[in-house]
Formats: sequence, structure tokens, C-alpha cells
Amino acid sequence: MNADIDHVLIPEEELLRKVEELGKCLARDYSGRGPVLIGVLTGAVVFISDLIRACRIPLSVDFMAVSSYERGTHSTGVVRILKDLDRNIEGQHVVVVEDIIDTGLTLSYLLEALQARHPATLRVCALLDKRGRRRVDLQLDYVGFEIPDEFVVGYGLDYAGLYRNLPYIGVLRPELYASEEG
Ligand code: IMP
Ligand code: MG
Repeated sequence: MNADIDHVLIPEEELLRKVEELGKCLARDYSGRGPVLIGVLTGAVVFISDLIRACRIPLSVDFMAVSSYERGTHSTGVVRILKDLDRNIEGQHVVVVEDIIDTGLTLSYLLEALQARHPATLRVCALLDKRGRRRVDLQLDYVGFEIPDEFVVGYGLDYAGLYRNLPYIGVLRPELYASEEG
């Protein structure tokens, strides 16, 4: 195990089993509808690349990058689109694929921006849900795991740009990150 990791929260086999399950759910629900899966960069890249291979129906993939204007580590809910979609999603069946929903502020902004483009349907598939920290009311249609309020890395999630390539979800040793929250 990586020496910076305090403990593994979700091991690789468990992640892959769950992602396979989510992919099958999506395939069942979107059969014949040719959905567009939108990955939110950068955290969702590992998840979405396993997810689309587990979802064995015709589909397309696109990406968006957003940045929250933050004060310290506090999300303000003001979000800027850094990279927009390559396609028009009007009339399309859209699934937003996220790594983790924390306060929900980022996703809530994103959903509003996407809804304004009039997709036929708009749903959310999130690997991790830190429900205890939610600050806005959000409906998550597909969720991998509900997790406690701990800072996690791996399987796409980073701290200061690192640890995205770990194959599991782990909790970082607390002395390694300077939490500004209080
Ligand atoms: P929200 O607007 O508070 O829901 O922010 C969600 C975003 O914060 C995620 O897409 C991640 O980029 C980041 N984030 C929240 N919690 C964690 C964590 O435990 N590890 C890594 N990134 C996190
Ligand atoms: Mg993210």
C-alpha cells in the first residue's frame, strides 16, 4: 500500500464489482436511447472509463471541466466552466458522471447549466456520496457508495493533483493534508 494512505476504505475488487453493477443498470435503463455520458474532469476519468466498458449499449462520451471559486477549502457554489462539451445535448439523454458529491454545490450549478440546454432527460451517476456534508437538495439517480466525512483519494480522486492512479479508494494520513475547514 502507498505509505501516504492511512487505510483503504474501498478495495479495488469492491470498486470494480460496483462499477460493473452500475454499468449494467445504465445499460438496462438507457437501452435504445443512445445516452451521452458526461464525465466531470478530472476526478471522474477513472470511474467513467470503467463505467462505459461495463455499460454494453451504444453510447457517447463527452467531458466538462469546471472550477469552483473557493475560499480556502470552502466551496462557494460559484462555478466556472473551464472546458465545455463538444456537442449539443438538446433532446439527448444525458448522464452526468461524477467522482464524489460533497456539499453538492458544484453539481447543482452544473445541472442547472445543463438543464438550460434542454436535454430530453438529465440524471446523475456518482461513485461516492458524502451525504453528511450536503448543503443543497440534490437527487442522485445512481450512487456507488455512501461514505463518511473523511478526505479520500485514489481511483481518480486527488489531493494536490496526486494519488489519482491508486486502484482503490483510501483515506489520506491526516498529517499530510492541511485542512482549512473548521
Ligand atoms: P462539492 O461542490 O462540495 O460537492 O465538491 C465536489 C468536488 O470536491 C468533487 O468533485 C471533488 O473534486 C472534491 N472533493 C470533495 N471531497 C473530496 C474528497 O474526499 N477527496 C477528493 N476530492 C474531494
Ligand atoms: Mg470533481
